[in-house]
Amino acid sequence: MQPDSSTAAARARVAAAFDPDLLRQTGHRLADVLGEHFTRIETSAERVLNWNAPATNIEAAQRCLCPPASDPTSPLPDGSAGGRGALVERFVELVRTMLARGHNLHDPRYIGHQVPASVPLAGLFDAVGSVTNQVMAIYEMGPWASAVEQVMVETLGTQVGWQRGEFAGVVTHGGSLANLTALLTARNVALGDSWQRGVHRDGPPPVIVAHAEAHYCIARSAGILGLGTNQVVKARLDARRKIDPERLDETLAELRAKNQPIVAVVACACATPVGAFDPLNDIADVCRRHGVWLHVDAAHGGAASLSDRYRPLVAGLERADSFIWDAHKMLFVPALCAFVFYRDAAHRFEAFRQDAPYLFDPSAPGMADYDSGLKTVECTKRAAAFGLWGVWSLFGRQLFADMVDLTFDLGRQFYEILAAAPDFEPLHEPECNIVVFRHVPPELRGAPAERIGKFQLDLRREVIEAGEFYIVPTTANGAGALRVTIINPLTTRAHLVDLLHTLRETGRRILRQTVY
Ligand SMILES: Cc1ncc(COP(=O)(O)O)c(C=O)c1O
Repeated sequence: MQPDSSTAAARARVAAAFDPDLLRQTGHRLADVLGEHFTRIETSAERVLNWNAPATNIEAAQRCLCPPASDPTSPLPDGSAGGRGALVERFVELVRTMLARGHNLHDPRYIGHQVPASVPLAGLFDAVGSVTNQVMAIYEMGPWASAVEQVMVETLGTQVGWQRGEFAGVVTHGGSLANLTALLTARNVALGDSWQRGVHRDGPPPVIVAHAEAHYCIARSAGILGLGTNQVVKARLDARRKIDPERLDETLAELRAKNQPIVAVVACACATPVGAFDPLNDIADVCRRHGVWLHVDAAHGGAASLSDRYRPLVAGLERADSFIWDAHKMLFVPALCAFVFYRDAAHRFEAFRQDAPYLFDPSAPGMADYDSGLKTVECTKRAAAFGLWGVWSLFGRQLFADMVDLTFDLGRQFYEILAAAPDFEPLHEPECNIVVFRHVPPELRGAPAERIGKFQLDLRREVIEAGEFYIVPTTANGAGALRVTIINPLTTRAHLVDLLHTLRETGRRILRQTVY
């Protein structure tokens, strides 16, 4: 049958989109545009955050979808050299728009959320996976992606002191999902048949005992797992906002005395608010004594295990029954790439007991260990470990240790700079690269906490919208405060000193206009 003209036109449009020469030419131009961009961003030649109101950005994104018909760069659906050239130009224009409107995490003045200035080449390894659409679920769908993930699980697991072959792990889409997966495993182990029968039972309801300042995804996990958010018992903290092992011991003893099933204790390495690392060895002793599963949320601090200087912060991590570690935090790779680990490999299939014969081939049962879908919420899963594996293969373990050392060291230095400045107040002694503080200019000294707190939030908004620095807001003792995470390894002490100047100047301007 002769293809009709509309089918032929459709084929031509598809061929233009899949044209390898188009890929080659856009790829070459992309490399140049990104190279120029990084040269400017890494030297702070642009604003850190390109601030635009949501409506402005949405309108601009919409405009890109529907260029006016008269626009000479509107997509030309043909594979001719002229058509290809126009598509390349349009591609470059779209990329420039993305860069001009984005957030410049690679500017050393970006010291905001726990999302890093990622090693740029990690993104290129990810891009190879994306361009060729490598996915996982079962081994044969993404054989190289599965092998790479397995190798990185083994590489990171052995960093905390575990022996190859004894432990297991899997990569998932983010720390929240990683915590959920590990806690699902803990629930299934603690409650036996809850996967099949659900968690409703006679007797006292099961609980999770978690660091009182654990990330909100722990409470969410309790909700999702059918335990209920009210069943998260807050482990009491000491003056440095770490779990107090003696009081944990008391809590577990009280729960046991009431016959209350304990799904897990969740400790943090470190907790989000001020980066406090729990005393894991002492907590592990308590958990062993009570026969309770210890889960550690090491999303941020797992990377300390790579540093000779900071490894003591995570001493005892190897005694956890499960822990998670976000590579898209302190391993400086693009989101999302999070690891779940089980100390005992026997637990690797406990979270899910999925029966999907169309996916998992019973004629090759030995493959199950390499079928990620048996161990993760995701069925189809992005090949998320290429960036980490590629950067580790190129630069080795030392680069990761260097990035931890440099950024954690700066946390301490920033604290000292703040402590020496009469108009700044560090609000805790940092153990890592997270520092919470306030700017209290002479005009506000002695003012009510609420007014000082409001000033912090206004100050931050001015600074970030001007694109001068990127820092984040938080609260401390109920009042507004400022928070930095030094998670760009290009940031130096000089940038942190500059931050104080910027906050002072902006603060003076605000105080001239607003009465606090
Ligand atoms: C300690 C901790 N756990 C979990 C998370 C959540 O991780 P994700 O954003 O990858 O879901 C965070 C995020 O900052 C965190 O700080």
